[in-house]
Amino acid sequence: MTRYDLLFHPGKIGSLQLKNRLVMPAMDTTLADAEGRVTDRLIKYYQARASGGAALIIPQAAKVSPDSTLPYTMNICGDDCVADWRKLIESVHEAGAAVCIQLMHSGLIALYSGYVPEGASIPVPSMMSWLPSDKPYRVLSEEDIDSYVEDFVRAAVRAKEAGADAVELHACHGCLVSSFLSPVTNRRTDQYGGSAENRARFARRIIEAMRGLLGREYPLWVRINASDGIDGGTTIEEAVEQGVILESVGADAISVSGGLEYWTTLTQAPYLHPMGLMVPMAERIKKAVKVPVIAVGKIDAELASQVVEEKKADFVAMGRPLLADPELPNKVREGRVEEVRRCIYCNNCLRSDPNAGPGSCSVNPYLYREGRYPPPMAKKAKKVMVIGGGLGGMQTAVYLAERGHRAHLYEKRSKLGGQWNLACATPGKETYAVFSDYLQRLLNKYSVPVTLGAEVTRGMVLELRPDVVVVATGAVPIGLRVQGIDGKNVVQGHDVIEGKAKPHGKVVVVGGRFIGMEVAIWLAEEGQDVSLVTKAGLGENGIRLEKGTFKSLADRLVGLRVPLYLHATVLQIKDDAVVFSMGGEIYSLPADTVILAVGMRSEASLAKELEGSAAEIHMVGDCVRPRDAAEVAYQAMRVAAQI
Ligand SMILES: Cc1cc2nc3c(=O)[nH]c(=O)nc-3n(C[C@H](O)[C@H](O)[C@H](O)COP(=O)(O)OP(=O)(O)OC[C@H]3O[C@@H](n4cnc5c(N)ncnc54)[C@H](O)[C@@H]3O)c2cc1C
Ligand SMILES: Cc1cc2nc3c(=O)[nH]c(=O)nc-3n(C[C@H](O)[C@H](O)[C@H](O)COP(=O)(O)O)c2cc1C
Ligand code: SF4
Repeated sequence: MTRYDLLFHPGKIGSLQLKNRLVMPAMDTTLADAEGRVTDRLIKYYQARASGGAALIIPQAAKVSPDSTLPYTMNICGDDCVADWRKLIESVHEAGAAVCIQLMHSGLIALYSGYVPEGASIPVPSMMSWLPSDKPYRVLSEEDIDSYVEDFVRAAVRAKEAGADAVELHACHGCLVSSFLSPVTNRRTDQYGGSAENRARFARRIIEAMRGLLGREYPLWVRINASDGIDGGTTIEEAVEQGVILESVGADAISVSGGLEYWTTLTQAPYLHPMGLMVPMAERIKKAVKVPVIAVGKIDAELASQVVEEKKADFVAMGRPLLADPELPNKVREGRVEEVRRCIYCNNCLRSDPNAGPGSCSVNPYLYREGRYPPPMAKKAKKVMVIGGGLGGMQTAVYLAERGHRAHLYEKRSKLGGQWNLACATPGKETYAVFSDYLQRLLNKYSVPVTLGAEVTRGMVLELRPDVVVVATGAVPIGLRVQGIDGKNVVQGHDVIEGKAKPHGKVVVVGGRFIGMEVAIWLAEEGQDVSLVTKAGLGENGIRLEKGTFKSLADRLVGLRVPLYLHATVLQIKDDAVVFSMGGEIYSLPADTVILAVGMRSEASLAKELEGSAAEIHMVGDCVRPRDAAEVAYQAMRVAAQI
């Protein structure tokens, strides 16, 4: 018996028999087509998770009404989509998992995407003064509510017809049903507002009606918020009450989540939040209901086995961990836990932009491209010099070795990892090291030769005569073109993180993106006197930051009362002050230490120097353009696939 055995005991939700306790929860992708129809790519994505060993796949939410405005959600609001769903369900069944369709009306989640089509409006329980005024809203009448109940029930019937093993009512994260459950968004004074019981009436009516039409035996359940993650939102006491009500009218399970996607950070809590952050709330609900409870939220295999063993929940949903490694369940069951490619909760997968493609994962470059990758073995093994041992170089070397090439990795420093080592050294991001450790294990597994302390030059390349060179020399931090930039009181954020520079006295951080915010938070938490000055707004001026991560950082800065000088252009750095202009005025902010976090510059000089030195030369990672780990991973894989 291993510590994971209980995770792989069969379990039941209503009449649905599941082979183990691991569930893939609903997670939207941009893989459905613009009409919300199933695509082959989407099928391959779910098949990979089903054959990876999860017992139950809940595909991305399916909209029940045409006026659900979240883009790229799947469609279950017309009979013509049943055949499509059947195709998806059959392929997941063939791959070994059951399927539950999550039924949704996006409601206020539309605010997360920011997109509301021309002529559409967002249905809400009541009008709230804080709702962004640039969007159109529609307060629902009781007749409207009746009509939405109908939509949900018709969609559930279609799901059953398509062969789904179960349906889940999406009633969390701020979607339409959830906005009725929550006091933050529901201020109605009729039978649908007021007490927790009244606020649950809409959800209750949907469950009752679905139960009536689908029959006593058909598995159906509800996903609710145990907390909205905000003052004045749903409390755990109310969630318990609402869970009990929904159980009493026929829900076969309560899936326990939290957060308002458009507002708070609980739903997809990033690295800054503790593991298993919503488990205690699932446990509270489990104590109050008789039906099974599904827990979610930063739960890895170790925690999952503990949750099931200690009966805090009956099933565990793993979202991002299954994006990072669809084979996680099989690996754990077979005792290959070391081989799991662990999610680091960086949330780069959430940055996906429908207009820019499906996005990617920092640790799994095959995500959303399951049918096309991994690439096949190379026809001819080539001798490849990979220069630079950061994430770009390490991954390229691994993927080349997997394809049968003879890759050799060179790094000028005494340690692999490059900038990632700095990321891991930032307080709160220590767990990022699981990824570089994982890559190191793969380099060992494939016996990739690694030469440390070797600064590669053109001469070396000419002497070693590789077939192919991959340049992955990364990026270095930049400064500012202002008077005083070379002063003794000016240091780089990188040097502070590395421990090479010790800030003292009054500290001014210049730069308000990731590194600037993180360094400022870290120093403020240590009790230092820190201010932050940035040229644009917080998090602006560069690639878009993921909303949840950005919000978590911004909340901390505000909570720590770090003075923020936004839209402020630094003009000069003096021995004892930073001079900047803001709103047409000039300010002088006292500073004993000035920390720069103003961006990166690609280190591409070697690539230029190497031109003509080998038949094939590629560039990977930040040396092409400073970027994030997801882009580095994807590019490393693409380059390795081309060679
Ligand atoms: C503090 C910090 C926090 C970050 N946080 C995040 C985050 O939360 N999420 C995220 O997605 N990204 C984050 N990033 C960005 C991410 O770390 C980088 O995008 C990624 O690591 C770049 O990898 P790379 O291999 O392209 O470059 P690098 O990591 O810069 O590696 C290049 C390597 O090449 C070596 N080298 C250079 N010249 C030579 C030569 N001539 N011979 C041999 N070796 C050479 C260098 O020593 C270095 O090790 C962060 C970066 C920093 C600095
Ligand atoms: C890309 C992405 C899309 C998501 N979309 C949905 C959704 O449509 N419906 C839903 O109930 N939850 C959605 N979620 C939340 C997940 O189901 C899950 O609760 C969350 O990721 C926390 O679990 P994890 O820490 O295991 O990732 C989404 C999460 C991610 C990462
Ligand atoms: S991108 Fe980051 S958060 Fe998303 S699945 Fe991959 S490792 Fe996890």
